[in-house]
Amino acid sequence: MRHLLSITDLSVEEIDALLETAADIEANPEAYAHKMEGKKLATLFFEPSTRTRLSFEAAMYELGGHVIGFAGASNSSAAKGESVKDTVRTVGCYADIIAMRHPLEGAPWAAVQAATTPVINAGDGGHHHPTQTLADLMTLKKEKGRLDHLKIGLCGDLRFGRTVHSLIEALSRYPGNEFVMISPRELRVPGHIVADLAEAGIPYKEAEALEEALPDLDALYMTRIQQERFFSPEEYLRLKDSYILDEEKMRLAPADMIVMHPLPRVNEIDVKVDADPRACYFKQVFYGKIMRMALILKLMGETELPPKPGRVLITTGKQCKNPRCISSTEQGLEPLFYPVHQVMRHGQLTRIPTKYVCAYCDMEQV
Ligand code: NCD
Repeated sequence: MRHLLSITDLSVEEIDALLETAADIEANPEAYAHKMEGKKLATLFFEPSTRTRLSFEAAMYELGGHVIGFAGASNSSAAKGESVKDTVRTVGCYADIIAMRHPLEGAPWAAVQAATTPVINAGDGGHHHPTQTLADLMTLKKEKGRLDHLKIGLCGDLRFGRTVHSLIEALSRYPGNEFVMISPRELRVPGHIVADLAEAGIPYKEAEALEEALPDLDALYMTRIQQERFFSPEEYLRLKDSYILDEEKMRLAPADMIVMHPLPRVNEIDVKVDADPRACYFKQVFYGKIMRMALILKLMGETELPPKPGRVLITTGKQCKNPRCISSTEQGLEPLFYPVHQVMRHGQLTRIPTKYVCAYCDMEQV
């Protein structure tokens, strides 16, 4: 049984094959209209969603299948204290495939321990969002014609923005890509992602000024400041309008640079930019549905296990220090960690004593 928990569960060849299937679905939708007849998708959304949940549901309907589920933890037995594992085990009695979104980081990893169906991570806390990445990759492929040799600017909340984390992981595996990561100091990309880029020798820069980065980009990926992940409301208020892309800033950007955003937008892209032909964020929404159709077909037809990144997992006798990690609340979930050895900050490779990173949420234990 295959699951999609992080984008690295798919090999580059598999992602390329999904893009091909998606192109065929777009060209010949009627050929796919009955592929999932008699099958049920369950959408278990413990957190708010418009696009992700509805695009999964539309995808399943367009494949001829059915949909059950809930939108909001308050509508499920999670409100009575049921664990993720028990919920997923129950839903496996009704559905053939599950798409789940949860506020705790690593929750889908807990789910697969009890799952009898494929599980798709539709967003776990500030951690991963692999199906948004599939939408983003289709957008880049269609609009830029390639997924390699791109200079991508990522701007906004790079700390809690899960779509950014998954997108960096995906594009890192295509040759020649470069990242410019633009954020306030407080919202920089998590250390384990930067360490992975450094280890793989992938060029990246951390910056604070959007204006300086703009003239040199192939794609700009804007993100919302993730209000719901902040511990302090004052900190959110201070950072919420850090970046606003408007017509004036767009004049600094190349004529063929595309603007992406996973949406919802709050204030970070002025609505006047929507009329600019470089604005691609509503195209991303459409591509997301097609890629989810391709993904459902793949997971429902597969039997072998995914290639897993070769990480050695250990127990340390301690709990994960991230209060938003699923291992801090879920019963019967053994805390597991993997070691990391170095981090790169501002172009300098700094050797540090071995640190342990949680296998569920990827937070460094400092
Ligand atoms: C994103 C998410 O939920 O992480 N939205 C989406 O799924 N398209 C981005 C966000 O909420 O800011």
